[in-house]
Amino acid sequence: MREVRTAFRRFWPLTRGDRKWLAVHGVSFRYRGAARETLTDLTFTAGPGELVIITGPSGAGKSTTAKLITRFYDPESGAITLDGVPLTDVGLEFLRENVALLPQETLILNGTVRENIACGRSGASEPDIERAARAAAAHEFITALPVGYDTHIAAGTAALSGGRLKRITIARAMLRAAPVLVLDEPTAGLDSVAARQLCTAVAPPHVRPCDDHDHS
Ligand SMILES: Nc1ncnc2c1ncn2[C@@H]1O[C@H](COP(=O)(O)OP(=O)(O)OP(=O)(O)O)[C@@H](O)[C@H]1O
Ligand SMILES: [Mg+2]
Repeated sequence: MREVRTAFRRFWPLTRGDRKWLAVHGVSFRYRGAARETLTDLTFTAGPGELVIITGPSGAGKSTTAKLITRFYDPESGAITLDGVPLTDVGLEFLRENVALLPQETLILNGTVRENIACGRSGASEPDIERAARAAAAHEFITALPVGYDTHIAAGTAALSGGRLKRITIARAMLRAAPVLVLDEPTAGLDSVAARQLCTAVAPPHVRPCDDHDHS
């Protein structure tokens, strides 16, 4: 796997609270029963205001890395720390507040588009929801729907394309506005216009994560 790093100032209007320093230090991990380690001695840091892009071929361990950062699993050896504190020492509530994950698989709940975004953060206001949708390049197509944010969707729904459902889940992750945001393949399934819109929303213009993904 390879990492690309850049300053990420434009991202910060979407975050709140203290900016956290994430460090992955010498992490190795093997899935239960697997013959080989999926990750061996992985080390990288993501400082406050930094965008770090991890690239690699299919099966390299990118999603596994995302799942370790969000503690779906714990490393076999090495440590992942937030401002120097191992994730294993912080409460799950603290972790969920400070680290948001957009999983690679699109998870849609049975409800309206608004509800599907709003579940990212309890008590989110309408402007918050709209801002997150704009950042996810979703606001335009949502408002073009006959009933807009009130459109009912469900898992496997035919009402919206996969790329549009994906953008709704991106908006949900954006709404979390956590100090650390982990996006697993955010541009997969998006057309080039939507991918570019998303990249412009979250990354400075000199970073081309969309193009990078194509080469991974
Ligand atoms: N739950 C699991 N149990 C056992 N092995 C797994 C599990 N999930 C992933 N793996 C294995 O771990 C390796 C890394 O998978 P991972 O999904 O992290 O790769 P990736 O880099 O995200 O790939 P992609 O680009 O296809 O999303 C693969 O060999 C995969 O088969
Ligand atoms: Mg993956």
